Amino acid sequence: MPVPTVSTIELFPLLGDETVLLPDYSYAYGNLPPHELELLCRIALYRQPKRIFEFGTYLGETTRHLAHYSEATVYTIDLYPPGHPQYRHQEVVDAQSDVVPSSPGARFLDTAEARQITQIWGDSRCFDFSEFASSIDFALIDANHNYDYVLSDSRNVLSMIAPGGIVFWHDYASYAPGVMKAVNEVSEEVSIFHLAETFLAVHLDDR
Ligand SMILES: C[S@@+](CC[C@H](N)C(=O)[O-])C[C@H]1O[C@@H](n2cnc3c(N)ncnc32)[C@H](O)[C@@H]1O
Repeated sequence: MPVPTVSTIELFPLLGDETVLLPDYSYAYGNLPPHELELLCRIALYRQPKRIFEFGTYLGETTRHLAHYSEATVYTIDLYPPGHPQYRHQEVVDAQSDVVPSSPGARFLDTAEARQITQIWGDSRCFDFSEFASSIDFALIDANHNYDYVLSDSRNVLSMIAPGGIVFWHDYASYAPGVMKAVNEVSEEVSIFHLAETFLAVHLDDR
């Protein structure tokens, strides 16, 4: 069953409506589009998470914005980049999003936000996330869009999220059936909503 759609205002009635995109923001295929990035930044600004975890760094535009609009330490995981000794051992098969950056995180390197950001390398499906158990206040799942990866990232994130934390999934849309299937399945265990006019799904931990 698809998860219910709710408006942003229903879920976040106290959210401000500031314009939050940084002046040198530029959209590239594979990034969050501006209206979704803006929404995530406004939620980060409002909730002020201390520890953020992003699955799928890509160019690092979202990473940089989330760091800028919070005082959080931002962890972000992506596959080893070309040139890294482990690069050839990775298998990347992602029909929905075949974006594999030659330089993950390029948009935050050499920025003021870089000091808040910890880049992690590896395949999120094999990575041991135990050091992050129950400690993440804000998470975004946006790495490999195949069902088994999204399910694995979702199971991991639920063990990483701190009481009262928030989890977003990007690409909750018919063009990414693996994401929809995994999110719908996880929603049988925890409450998840689709945010109207976006491709974002969200879980608010109520412990
Ligand atoms: C859609 S992009 C992420 C966009 C980014 N979150 C943003 O908002 O700009 C997907 C990223 O996930 C990475 N990726 C794909 N499979 C992965 C895996 N198994 N583990 C970690 N990262 C993966 C890709 O290399 C790519 O950089």
